[in-house]
Amino acid sequence: MERIYVDHAATSPMHPMVIDAMIHEMNETFGNPSSIHFFGRQARQKIDESRRICSESIGAKVNEIIFTSGGTESDNLALRGVAFSNKQKGKHIITTMIEHHAILNTCKVLEKEGFEVTYLPVDESGRISIEDVKKALRDDTILVSIMMVNNEVGTVQPIKEIGDLLKDHQAYFHTDAVQAYGLLPINVYEMGIDLMSVSSHKINGPKGVGFLFAKESVVFSPQVFGGEQERKRRAGTENVPGIVGFATAIQIIKQEREERSTSYLAYRTLLMDELSNEQIEFEMNGNSTYLAPHVINLSFKGISIESFLVNLDLSGIAASSGSACTAGSIDPSHVLVAMFGKGSEKLRSSVRFSFGLGNTEEQIKELAIRVATIVRRLK
Ligand SMILES: Cc1ncc(COP(=O)(O)O)c(C=O)c1O
Repeated sequence: MERIYVDHAATSPMHPMVIDAMIHEMNETFGNPSSIHFFGRQARQKIDESRRICSESIGAKVNEIIFTSGGTESDNLALRGVAFSNKQKGKHIITTMIEHHAILNTCKVLEKEGFEVTYLPVDESGRISIEDVKKALRDDTILVSIMMVNNEVGTVQPIKEIGDLLKDHQAYFHTDAVQAYGLLPINVYEMGIDLMSVSSHKINGPKGVGFLFAKESVVFSPQVFGGEQERKRRAGTENVPGIVGFATAIQIIKQEREERSTSYLAYRTLLMDELSNEQIEFEMNGNSTYLAPHVINLSFKGISIESFLVNLDLSGIAASSGSACTAGSIDPSHVLVAMFGKGSEKLRSSVRFSFGLGNTEEQIKELAIRVATIVRRLK
């Protein structure tokens, strides 16, 4: 039985060229980038080059990229770093109800530490409204953090409009772009973004590495203390092979972005067409006008998600009920609750399929056949 991996939003396989680049790095460049001798300089050069690749990919300056251990740390650094450095200007933060837990749980801790957080609602398509952002903004708002693409349903938020709205406000604008980066075009200056989180393992790079973009003018404090690495913004000896692997993944995805987006969009349509041909009853969660190409979240009426996921796994399909963090727990997805309300049947019958490297049209057709068989059996 061929296994079909359609859970790329949880994590993605490493690209073979990334693995090669990392093996090379581990063999050749073991120096500490802070050392002044040859070995250190050699490692430093690799980091400098990787930082340039990261900054160019989003239209930022080289010194605006801070390497971190991934999306979670970037989110924590952005939120906590800005909150504690700017609390004399205010203690109000705006975010949404559908953020990743890296944001939501950080906000919960900030609330305990004396900050006030407004959680914006979303409509049935999973979008926030600009009007709601306007209404929530206050003179003492210091930070607005709104994700670019939601990891459970794939909804794209109106990032440039939020950036425009905040131009004349003191609040910094942070976006968690972990699910968007590599598939959507991003220019931080054109979009009015002050801080942005990115993770390597969602774009076929290694796990445990990512970056935070922070505009030169942003005042924020480090959250990890120690040496003077990353211009004193994030202490700790740099993960050189990880950073080089990440930069390699960025170079690859840059070349393949449009082709991949087109393929994933086609897979989404193909999956729905094939399920309809099989006469399976389903609904897409979200509005296709505002969806990132790689994620599709479908609800199958009358199906219980726990048995559905077990059956999918038994039939060789790796999909998910939502974010990797909530998968396996019986709590309904906070994203679907925000979209449809606590009583919705969709909370118990929705599955996320997410496409990526290695998926083919044949796999998607086979996926539809296996899903249809399971739905018929469970009904
Ligand atoms: C939107 C979003 N933000 C943050 C994260 C966390 O990133 P990492 O796994 O690199 O810590 C994820 C990962 O699932 C995500 O999807």
